[in-house]
Amino acid sequence: MAMTKAESDTGEEPKAPARKKRGKRRAATKDGPAVAKAKPAESTAAKAEKKTVTDEKPSPADLEVAKEAFNALDALGWITSRKAKRPIDADGNPLPWITYPAIALLERRVKPNMNVFEFGSGFSTLWWSKRAQSVTAVEHHVGWYERIKGQVPDNATLHHVELQEDGEYCRAAAQSPEKPFHVIVIDGRDRVNCAKNAISALRPGGVIVWDNSDRKRYRPGTRHLVQNGFKRLPLVGFGPRLSRVWETSIFYRPDNCLGL
Ligand SMILES: C[S@@+](CC[C@H](N)C(=O)[O-])C[C@H]1O[C@@H](n2cnc3c(N)ncnc32)[C@H](O)[C@@H]1O
Repeated sequence: MAMTKAESDTGEEPKAPARKKRGKRRAATKDGPAVAKAKPAESTAAKAEKKTVTDEKPSPADLEVAKEAFNALDALGWITSRKAKRPIDADGNPLPWITYPAIALLERRVKPNMNVFEFGSGFSTLWWSKRAQSVTAVEHHVGWYERIKGQVPDNATLHHVELQEDGEYCRAAAQSPEKPFHVIVIDGRDRVNCAKNAISALRPGGVIVWDNSDRKRYRPGTRHLVQNGFKRLPLVGFGPRLSRVWETSIFYRPDNCLGL
């Protein structure tokens, strides 16, 4: 993947979480307990250089924990996904680029008779096509559209739609002849407008899966769903490909198709 999930809008790799710095131990002297000597102020450039070259040596206990963490993440498929830079499981099968808790829930509750709509196509389109009756996806990025279109099976239909805020893209589910949908996934662009237009394209028991629902700029959309009778199930955790925790939420109403 050339882009990161974190901010595919900016194309930037998400920053690694800041490492906790441990101070150097000073030996006590015969004159009394260890006392830190006053140091001359360092320039920002000097500090940055120092940080990259003097990485603290991990203790044997740290290494043991790191090994356990590696094995756990490997079993989850995260190591495979991180190395491949693609949202895949331990066996290389495509995964939706949402949090692992959300994937686990959907994996257990999606039924083969469901029809799904996706704003933003990708490996998720391949994943849904194996589990649902049909998948309809809208994609604004031509190169990505062509790449995914070449891989999807017959029960998946991919549409390329130019991105225009509050335009055709966000109305693609509402205008689709395949509606109403059991599941609508919001994971592309213009997400607030996609949410506002998605409600009319859902079955009465239909649900909305919204990735990165923790982003502040999506609040008008998540609030709109709640004001329209949806409950929100935030599924926070690690996910494929990225070294951080984020949130995927499922919005549902009573008697919904996922049994929530
Ligand atoms: C975060 S991706 C998620 C796509 C999909 N729902 C999934 O879970 O795999 C959202 C958007 O990023 C863009 N995108 C992702 N990877 C890309 C790539 N390698 N090159 C170009 N666009 C990419 C696509 O436009 C896509 O609609």
